[in-house]
Amino acid sequence: MDFVKLILVFVEAALELVPKECWNHRAVVSDARRRNKRPDQLLLDRSYHHAAMKNLVDAHKRGRPDIVHFCLLTSLGSVLSKMGLLEVYVHTRDDKLIWVNPETRLPRVYERFKGLIEALYEQYIIESNGKKLLELKDGTLTDLLSTLRPDKVVLMSEKGNRLTMKELGMLLTSYKRPAVLVGAFPRGEFEERTVKVANAIVRIYDESLEAWTVTSYVICSLEHMLGC
Ligand SMILES: C[S@@+](CC[C@H](N)C(=O)[O-])C[C@H]1O[C@@H](n2cnc3c(N)ncnc32)[C@H](O)[C@@H]1O
Repeated sequence: MDFVKLILVFVEAALELVPKECWNHRAVVSDARRRNKRPDQLLLDRSYHHAAMKNLVDAHKRGRPDIVHFCLLTSLGSVLSKMGLLEVYVHTRDDKLIWVNPETRLPRVYERFKGLIEALYEQYIIESNGKKLLELKDGTLTDLLSTLRPDKVVLMSEKGNRLTMKELGMLLTSYKRPAVLVGAFPRGEFEERTVKVANAIVRIYDESLEAWTVTSYVICSLEHMLGC
C-alpha cells in the first residue's frame, strides 16, 4: 500500500461575502444592523438573504456556508484527521482557497463559525497562540492542485462510476497522495473546469447525497481500509 495522505477539497463551495449588488437590499441591511457589521463584511447566507438573492447568477448554488461548516466538522473530527492522514482545503465558487490546519477546533455553533470566516475574509490569516489555524488566498482549483501535486484526482459525483465503500477505499489507498473533490454547494451541476481536473469520477449511491454524507463515506472508506 502506497498511501500517505488524503487531500480533501470542498469545491465550488457556496461560501462568499455578500456581493455588491445585494448590499442595499433590505434583507441584507437589516441582517447587517442586527450583527453590527457592514453589508460587505457579511457572508452570503440564504437563511437571511433569500429575498436579496433572487437575481443573482447561479443563485441556487450560492449562500450556504452551513455546508462547508458541516463538512469541516465531519473531516476535522475524523480518526483519519487525528492520525495526521488528512489535509483539508476549501475552494469557493468565486476562486478563494482556504487552508485549514487539522488542529483547528472550529466553532460548533454556526453563527460563531460565520463570524470566524468573516474575520478570515478581513485578515486572510487566523492565528491562535502563534499557530496559523486558517489561511485565505485568491486562487483557482487548478492553482491549488498544481501546488499540492496529488497523484490522483477523484471527483465525487452522482454522475460517476458506481463504487462500493471497499472499492473506493482500495482505489484511494493505491495512491500516495490522492485528492478527493466534494461539491460544497446545495444543488446544480459542477462547472466544466472542475470536471476537467478529475482523473476519475465516482458515484457512491444512485441519488444525490448531502456533501457531508459523502465526506464521511470517503473518510470511512479509507479508515476501514487502513484499519484506523
Ligand atoms: C448536494 S450535492 C450537490 C448537488 C449536485 N446535483 C451533485 O450531486 O453534483 C453535494 C456534493 O456531494 C457529492 N455527491 C452527491 N451525491 C453523490 C453521489 N451519489 N455519489 C457521489 N458523490 C455525490 C458531490 O460531490 C456533490 O457535488
